Amino acid sequence: TLPLGEKKESGNKLVVAHRGASGYAPENTMAAFEKALQMKSDYLEIDIQMTKDEKLVVIHDPTVDRTTNGTGEVRQYTYEELRNLDAGGWFHKRFTGQYIPTLEEVIETYKNKMGFLVEIKNPVMYPNLILKLEEVMKKCNVNRPINNEIIIQSFDFEWLETFHKSLPNIPLGLLVKYRVHGISKVQLRDWSSLVQYINPNKALITKNLVKRIHSYDMKVMPYTVRDKKSIKNLIDANVDGIITDFPDYFT
Ligand code: G3P
Ligand code: CA
Repeated sequence: TLPLGEKKESGNKLVVAHRGASGYAPENTMAAFEKALQMKSDYLEIDIQMTKDEKLVVIHDPTVDRTTNGTGEVRQYTYEELRNLDAGGWFHKRFTGQYIPTLEEVIETYKNKMGFLVEIKNPVMYPNLILKLEEVMKKCNVNRPINNEIIIQSFDFEWLETFHKSLPNIPLGLLVKYRVHGISKVQLRDWSSLVQYINPNKALITKNLVKRIHSYDMKVMPYTVRDKKSIKNLIDANVDGIITDFPDYFT
């Protein structure tokens, strides 16, 4: 099993492959996850939506329009219908045949190889979401995670609070959008009562912010990094991990 982050060129920084190695292969497909593994990522960052028949699927947008050859909302499709869409050709024709995977399939395939940073995209759109997450995590035996092998993250703090009431053993991350006035002491204190990770837009990161987050015993993994210079700056600022489309940029 992983002691996550104890290795290699990135030192002790966690390499988090954003939607898989999405700089090299179509985001949130098995091709992008396989690349992420080859590039020695510690975590896969994946985005979750739900189908009409309540399967949790890995796709960023609530609609299939941008990343498949179909149109319409994910929740209007059964998984069987969704699986027939092509999720790779838009990126490059050699990826034609890639499909939208289920959360279960991704965990089963990569468990004990990489961890999972699972972003719940539009929680309020899906009534049975928490129940379904619980079912999948139990089935995949990650409902009592070892070494934070799965982390649930969201921009929606209230939803994370609700989730925590049902599944108190799962480590949580709060995503924070860029905000001109930064992050206050009161916010850090409140957030630290619930989450173990603060994952801000990289533009918010300063050495001082990282220090303040660490002082509340939380870790910091900024998003989304697409160049080597930013990786260097973030490592200098002492972040714990970096969410990037290019997991090989650490080497
Ligand atoms: O993990 C953080 C990052 O993925 C949030 O933005 O739009 O890429 O899901 P987005
Ligand atoms: Ca995401």
